[in-house]
Amino acid sequence: MGCESNNATPPGPAIAPGAESLDAMRVAEDLASGRHRGWSGCIDPRIPAAVPGFDAPFFQAGLAGYSDAAMRIVARRHGCPYCVTEALLDRTLLAGGRGFTKADLGELHDNVPGGIEDHPLAVQIMGSDPREMAASALKAIEQGKRTDKAYRALAYGHLTHDPSGALVKHRPEDFEPAPEYEYEEVSCGDEEEEATESGSHEVAESQGRSVAASLSFSTVDVNLACPVKKIKAKARGGHWLAEPDGAIAILEAVRNDVPAHIPCTVKLRRSYDDTPEMVANFYRIYDAAYAMGYAWATVHARTVEQKYVGPSRWDLLREIVRRTPERVVFGSGDIWNVHDLFRMIAYTGVNAVAVARGCIGNPWIFRQARMMLAGNEPARPTIAEQRDVLEQHYRLALAANRRMRYPDDFTSKNMRKFGIRFAEHHPRSEEVRLRFIAVKGIEDWRAVLDEMYVEA
Ligand SMILES: Cc1cc2nc3c(=O)[nH]c(=O)nc-3n(C[C@H](O)[C@H](O)[C@H](O)COP(=O)(O)O)c2cc1C
Repeated sequence: MGCESNNATPPGPAIAPGAESLDAMRVAEDLASGRHRGWSGCIDPRIPAAVPGFDAPFFQAGLAGYSDAAMRIVARRHGCPYCVTEALLDRTLLAGGRGFTKADLGELHDNVPGGIEDHPLAVQIMGSDPREMAASALKAIEQGKRTDKAYRALAYGHLTHDPSGALVKHRPEDFEPAPEYEYEEVSCGDEEEEATESGSHEVAESQGRSVAASLSFSTVDVNLACPVKKIKAKARGGHWLAEPDGAIAILEAVRNDVPAHIPCTVKLRRSYDDTPEMVANFYRIYDAAYAMGYAWATVHARTVEQKYVGPSRWDLLREIVRRTPERVVFGSGDIWNVHDLFRMIAYTGVNAVAVARGCIGNPWIFRQARMMLAGNEPARPTIAEQRDVLEQHYRLALAANRRMRYPDDFTSKNMRKFGIRFAEHHPRSEEVRLRFIAVKGIEDWRAVLDEMYVEA
C-alpha cells in the first residue's frame, strides 16, 4: 500500500480560468531575466539559501512506487535540481534498523540517498504519532548515528531520572553515538561510469565509503497529504487535515527534534474536502507550520477526498498564495508537460512546482524547462536519447536491486511501469507500450530496446 491510488484520472488540465492564454515561453524568459517578483535569478533566493543546489523553480515530487534513487538520478541528469523521497512510514523507519527493510510504502533502502549524484534530497516522513515522527526524522537525518534502541527510546518516551531526581523522558543527547557505526552503503549504478558521465571525480573517490553526514538528506518533508485510508482509526498523511490539533503537534515535534540547520517543510492537500470547516483547518495548519519556522509548504491543489481523481484547482491554490504573498509556497497538481510547469508559476504565484506524474517516463521535462529558461524552444527526445535513458534507468535500478535473489528479472519486471510511460515518446507508442507490458525478464527487456529503439 502506498500513496498511489488506482483511480487516478488520465492527464487533463487543472481548473484555472484564463491560464490557457499564458505563454509558457514568455513566463520562462521573464523568470530567467530576474524580473519576476524581484528575484535575482530564475528562483526565489530564499530557496537555494535553505537548500544549496536547489537552483531552478521545479523539482521531482515524491511518488510512491516510482521515485526511488534510480528515477531521481535520471531526473537529476536531465536538470532536476531537487527531489523528494516517497512517503516513508515513521514506524517502519524506526523498526527497520540498518537494512531499512520493506515498508508498506515502498522499499526504504531505495530512498536512502543514492550516492553523490542524489543530492540535495528531502526525506519525506508520514505517521500518526508526533514522537515517532520526530524520532524517525532524526534517524533519517543522522543516518543512524545513534543505535536503533536510542531512536526507539526517543520515540516511545522511556523515562529516566534527571540530576534533580525528577522523572523525564530521554532526549537524543542522552545517548552516546553507537561505536564504530558503519552505514550500509546504498549507491546506485556503476560509479566509475557515472564519474565519467558526470565528470565528477568525487563520485569515483566515494567508492567503498560509507555515506557521510554531508550525503544525508538535506530536508525533512512532513507528509500531510497522502489520501490512503486511516489505519486502526489513527490519522496519518492527508487525514490530519481533518484533525488540525494532531497535525500541529506532529509539525511541532518534528521541528523541535530535527537540528535547526536542517530545513523542515510540509506537503499538504489544499483541504480535506470543500466544506468551510475543512478549509479553515487547512489554514490553521498552514499558518502554524510557517509560524514554527517551516521553510515552505507544497500544496497539492486537490482535496484528500479527491485522491487523484479529477482536476486540481489552481484557482484555489492562487488564493492560498495571494493570502500570504511573503511566504515561500510550492504547488502541485496537473503538471503534465513543461508548459504546465511555467503556467502554474505564472497563474498561481507559487515559488516552485512539484513535477509528479508528468515526469514518470519523462525526465526530459526537466531538460526542456532548463532549455526554456535559456530562451530555447524545448526539444523532444530522439529515439537514441530515449534508448540511452532507458538503459541508464535500468542500470541504476539494477544497482539498487542488486541484493535481490534475481536482480535482473526483478528489475526488468519492475521497469515495465516506467517503460509504458517512456513509450509515450516513441512514434510507434502503442506497439512499444504493448511490448513493455509483455516483458517477463531481462531477455524481453533487451529485445524491446534492440528492436524498437533503433533510429530509422
Ligand atoms: C503513484 C503516486 C504516488 C504518490 N506518492 C506520493 C508520496 O509518496 N509522497 C507525496 O508527497 N506525494 C505523493 N504523490 C502525490 C504527488 O507527489 C503529486 O502531489 C500528485 O500526483 C499531484 O500532481 P500531478 O497531478 O501533477 O501528478 C503520489 C502520487 C501518485 C500518483
